Parts: sequence; structure tokens; C-alpha cells
Amino acid sequence: MMIDGKRLLLNLAAFRRFSDTPGSGVTRFSYGSQDAKARRSIINRAKRIGCPVRIDAVGNIRIGLPSNQPGRPAIFCGSHIDTVRNGGWLDGIYGVCSALEVLETLAERGRKKATRNFETVIFAEEEGSNFGSTMTGSKFITGKYGNEDLERLTADNGKTMRQVLQEAGLEPETTAGSQLDPVPWDLSNVAAMLELHIEQGPVLDRAGIPIGIVDSIFGMRVVEVVLTGVGNHAGATPMSERHDPLSAAAECILAAESMVAADPNKRAVVTVGKLEVQPNCSNVIPETVRFSIEVRDSNNEKINRYMSEIIHDIREIALNRDVNCQIHEHSSSKPLHLDDGVREVIRQTAESSGISYRVMDSGAVHDACMIAEASVPTGMIFVPSIDGRSHVPEEDTKGEDLIRGTQLLMDVIETLLTQTEEEQ
Ligand code: GLV
Ligand code: MN
Ligand code: MN
Repeated sequence: MMIDGKRLLLNLAAFRRFSDTPGSGVTRFSYGSQDAKARRSIINRAKRIGCPVRIDAVGNIRIGLPSNQPGRPAIFCGSHIDTVRNGGWLDGIYGVCSALEVLETLAERGRKKATRNFETVIFAEEEGSNFGSTMTGSKFITGKYGNEDLERLTADNGKTMRQVLQEAGLEPETTAGSQLDPVPWDLSNVAAMLELHIEQGPVLDRAGIPIGIVDSIFGMRVVEVVLTGVGNHAGATPMSERHDPLSAAAECILAAESMVAADPNKRAVVTVGKLEVQPNCSNVIPETVRFSIEVRDSNNEKINRYMSEIIHDIREIALNRDVNCQIHEHSSSKPLHLDDGVREVIRQTAESSGISYRVMDSGAVHDACMIAEASVPTGMIFVPSIDGRSHVPEEDTKGEDLIRGTQLLMDVIETLLTQTEEEQ
């Protein structure tokens, strides 16, 4: 079945406008006002074509086809609608608009011989923009996160996730008597999960290859470091008498960078993307510095080894500079190998359509990881990111690549919808 490429691009362009930072990329945090507008527009669109919509207690959305039959295995397809601060216009929403395009095409044209149901799934808080923990919605879906995490996860303004959800009209504690589905979900009858995404790195664009088929997704581990020194006057305090936590943080960050940059396989990465300085005045030696450190690789032991060495270095640097050091584990996800059977269906579909592809790893994490970890056969398709830019306003992909990726997704889903359990 042919998707409507023009409609796809128009829908994507419409979501670009749901941003708190127009002109400076897209900022759309889960549970915020732009997220609410985007959700409303998706729900209205689904209802217009007669598709039933369900929302769970943490804001994940699932949209079924009117022709879905109770009890049949389901094919899930989707991604997220939230963004990082000043992010791009495609990360997440491309997979959502594509899954909606597939839904709409199936709803309009009917499904011949389908033995399975189709559902578009929209995950909440994938980026971790509110609480610093990626894939939060899908972690609740699979039970990796539960009630205690609603208290543990806090936004920069000090509000707990539970408070943020309540303010957004969601009811995390009890769904009894409400319209909301509970978390975790029962995934036992999900036959497969597909996520289409922009690559977010330079591999496909540099090679001039239009499709990536994901083999493995990197794991990650994030810790939060708080260094506390002695705040003091910037002019009157001699250099020899300082306990400056920001200088200590600088040393820690550079030590971590040179350690991971020397990775023999050149695959591991370390990033400090968040750093807060108190009181953050040019004429005051800082009192406290708080920063995140995240390490990613395709090998979990390596992630843990690098993180242990980084933590060891941080403690030593803090000791030498006589500043207090606290380190808290924040979040993690393991590297994941995606399903061989689903990958083979994607590969064969690309081949029979004459599309060149590359089988590759994903350095970015995706909700697909959590669903795959819950033993659902999962596959991911990538399209090129121009110049490999992502999580920035410059993030972009050619229209023809966006359409090609969605058509491939459609074709793969048509095959999966008619597969039997034995064929999979
Ligand atoms: C999500 O985009 C991530 O990889 O952090
Ligand atoms: Mn994403
Ligand atoms: Mn992202």
C-alpha cells in the first residue's frame, strides 16, 4: 500500500510549530503546554478516522485501528513526541508521524488477510528533558520504573514526577475509576515493535545510503556529581587558599574525556551535557557545582569499567583539591541486540524494493530498547541525518528520505500483519 508522502511532510511541518522556542529549534517537553497541544492534535486526528485512543497513567498513548480484533497479537509502531531543549524538528516526531501515516493508510484502505492488530504507540518523556532519565515512559510500560520512581525523579524546579503528572491531569497512583490505563502494560500479546527514526549521526549521510537497519543499540549509564567547596570573594581570596569546585569539575571532565577518547575501538563516548554552578556570579568563587556524566558503549562491561574509573578519578581530584564530593547513580540502560527475525523482514523488504541499506548500530537510545528488553521482537529503521546533526536546531533530513523511510515502514508492517507466529 502506498503511503501519502505529501500528507506525511505536511503533518511533520505542523508539529514543528508546537515549540516553546520558535526560531531556535523545537522545545517540547513532555507534560508541558506544547506537548499538550501536540497530543490533542494527534488524538483529534485519530478520532476523526474512528481509531480508538487509550492513554496510560504516565501519558503514553496507544491508538488502535477500528478493525482490530480483541485477542489477536498486535504489531506496535511508534516513537516519542518530546524533544530536548532547543532540539530538532524530527527526533521522535518523525517516527510518530510515520506510524500515524501507516495507521491512516491502513484505516482508509482496509487490511487484506491481516491476522494481527496494528497499534500506533506514542511514548512519553523519552528524552529525559524533565527528569534527566531517558525512556521514562517506556520504562513505566515495562515495569522497569514504578511508584518509587515517581518520587525519586525530580525536575530542575524541585517538583517530583508525581507532582508534574498530577499538574498535567494524569493520575499516577490510582487509575481505578479513571479513564487512564495502568502501568505496566501487558506486552505478552505483542508480536513485534517497529520504530522508525532519524539516524542522528553521520554514517548514512556520509555514505550516501538512504536506509539504516539497526542491529544493536548502545547502552548508557548516567551519574550525577555534586562538588562542594568554599564560596568566597573572587578578588580577595589568594589562589593558594581556594577550594574551588568548578576548577575541580573542569579537571574531572577533562580526565574523563581523555580516558574515553583513548578507547581502543573508538566507540565508547562520554558526555557532560549538564552543569550547574552556584551561585554562578563572575566575582564569586563557586560554592557548589553539580554535573551529569554519561558513558555509552555497545558493551555493558566496558560502560561499567569506564564509569568506575571516572568515579575513582573524580574522588581523587576532589580529595586533592579539598572539595566535598557526592556521586549518585541516576539512570541506565543495557546495550541491546534487536530481533534477528524482524531485522530480516526489514532487510528483505528493502531488497525487494531496490533500496540500498546498511546494517548498523545506534549510538542514541530509543523506546524500542525498553520494549525489546521486555522480550518483544523489535526492529528499528533509520533514515539519514544531514551532516549527522541532531538534538540541535540544525537537525534535518531530506523530504524524499523521510518519505522513503515511511514507505519502507509501511511495507514491513504489511508483511508483519499477515505473518503467522510460526513464520516469525
Ligand atoms: C535520546 O535521544 C538519547 O539517546 O539520549
Ligand atoms: Mn528520539
Ligand atoms: Mn533524542
